[in-house]
Amino acid sequence: MCGIVGIVGRADVAPHIVDALKRLEYRGYDSAGVATISDGALGRRRAEGKLVNLERRLADEPLDGTIGIGHTRWATHGVPNEANAHPHFSGDVAVVHNGIIENFAELRAALIADGFEFHSQTDTEVIAHLITRELKAGKDPVSAAHASLRVLRGAFALAIMFRGDEDLIIGARNGPPLAVGHGEGEMYLGSDAIALAPFTNAITYLEDGDWAVLRRSGVEIFDIEGSPVSRRRQQSLGTAYMVDKGNYRHFMEKEIYEQPEVVSHTLANYLDFANSKVKEFSLPFDFAKLDRLYVSACGTAYLAGLVGKYWIERYARLPVDIDIASEFRYRELPITKNSAALFISQSGETADTLASLRYCRSEGLPIGAIVNVRESTIARESDAVFPTLAGPEIGVASTKAFTCQLSVLAALAVRAAVARGTVDAAQEAQLVRELSEAPGLAHQVLKLASQIERLARDLSQYKHVLYLGRDTNFPLAMEGALKLKEISYIHAEGYAAGELKHGPIALIDEKMPVIVIAPHDRIFEKTVSNMQEVAARGGKIILITDAKGAAESTVDTLATIVVPDVPEIISPIIYALPIQLLAYYTAVFIGTDVDQPRNLAKSVTVE
Ligand code: AGP
Repeated sequence: MCGIVGIVGRADVAPHIVDALKRLEYRGYDSAGVATISDGALGRRRAEGKLVNLERRLADEPLDGTIGIGHTRWATHGVPNEANAHPHFSGDVAVVHNGIIENFAELRAALIADGFEFHSQTDTEVIAHLITRELKAGKDPVSAAHASLRVLRGAFALAIMFRGDEDLIIGARNGPPLAVGHGEGEMYLGSDAIALAPFTNAITYLEDGDWAVLRRSGVEIFDIEGSPVSRRRQQSLGTAYMVDKGNYRHFMEKEIYEQPEVVSHTLANYLDFANSKVKEFSLPFDFAKLDRLYVSACGTAYLAGLVGKYWIERYARLPVDIDIASEFRYRELPITKNSAALFISQSGETADTLASLRYCRSEGLPIGAIVNVRESTIARESDAVFPTLAGPEIGVASTKAFTCQLSVLAALAVRAAVARGTVDAAQEAQLVRELSEAPGLAHQVLKLASQIERLARDLSQYKHVLYLGRDTNFPLAMEGALKLKEISYIHAEGYAAGELKHGPIALIDEKMPVIVIAPHDRIFEKTVSNMQEVAARGGKIILITDAKGAAESTVDTLATIVVPDVPEIISPIIYALPIQLLAYYTAVFIGTDVDQPRNLAKSVTVE
């Protein structure tokens, strides 16, 4: 999604705004721009493509001014070009915007009827003209902005600047996140705390409906009615973490290799390894009294939840109703009593997941959230937060967040099983001991990287790939397919292996490799049959299994990746690593933008 930065400062701000925008690159974008006010004049530089193009523009034509706003744009309305890049101007007003203005067409028509000329295809330009119209009607800048906010419908985070007042930036939030940074004689606005890290870690997060008046002396925050509100000023966790690649080629590679450590941190937050027990972390519901748990998320987070469903139902005998959030939010599903809801989100800002949470809130359900950003909206609107301690995940393709989400879900499954009496103390101890093996086994699996890299070179030649798995390896098959397609752009599908003969087998030929995720477990033989069906039709098989599976598989494969023997409950965490590495190296061979794949955003804050 788009990134927003604003500074009302003491020295020239343009270079600092660009530095802050660089820390938002992980959100995905296709153009960028900066505007400042200097000597009573509005100045602007914009560029299509990456920030390096904007930096070149600024080097050729520097911008002075101690107040400014900047933006990285992820196109929603209008093609990614310079004319559509933010900031957008209207008279004395400059605006940058993240989100979608749903009523922009009617507003645009009314403004054109009022004589306003549009210079872009964006919905954002409507906001700038609305404010100008209010200024022309005699309102002061703050009142003009407030009046304009009240007619907007949809999701928006905004930063607004006014020629003629070099000590005022207005921020507004309705959906996409926006944070205020507190400086010494300076104030900042940013889409998240990571953007503001170079300036401050004293952060105030705006809530939905808030708008803020920033001046060098400080900030005043109001609700949409115009009444002052107070929001907590906090020390942000995210800003202390220096976000860089270290000696890795990509953030994704770094984050894949961080998994043994961050899975360990996450598990240790919920499990008492010394006493082989699950910790008594607080819950907004009593698992013993629940009849059903609703789970909803998007993308990789959804697939983590799907693995969690198998675990919670298997170990705790608690029925789980899971759905992707974009469907869940509109299904109007009848909520059964004695139920609760759990939402999973790395960013904690995904619009569909947030909307599903609010649906469950309206139904009176207790809400839990597994998030990686403690200060996120989803976290703040939940009754209990179960953090993944993955650290900032910068690569658009989710890796360490996924295995940390699985770690939390496994701990919750054990906690539920203990509460519901479906496992006794000895079984609890056994499960906790098995979970404690995950970091070490993950470290071992990462040593397979060079074999997987060689295999990826072959895989990068293909245009279509099928992933197969059973039980908890079925969501993994879908996750493997999602990883491959989102960073290498190869078409890939994940299927339940048992579904092969119900259609996909028609696709099998030598031009489509089939990746089979199959530890030697109680249903391994069933999957061997599927592999035989594939081989009999000339399909090329890549088998990811353990030593026993490799020994007992009677099928010739293109390659077999042999993973260490792992306990069943940590199998999805461990088998996630080879599928992540396979996707990563394939994309590297193809040469795509691994950390910021085309068309993708790290946090989808619009529906
Ligand atoms: C996964 O690799 C993708 N980046 C995407 O599917 C992501 O998992 C999804 O958009 C959900 O994001 P969230 O976890 O921040 O809610």
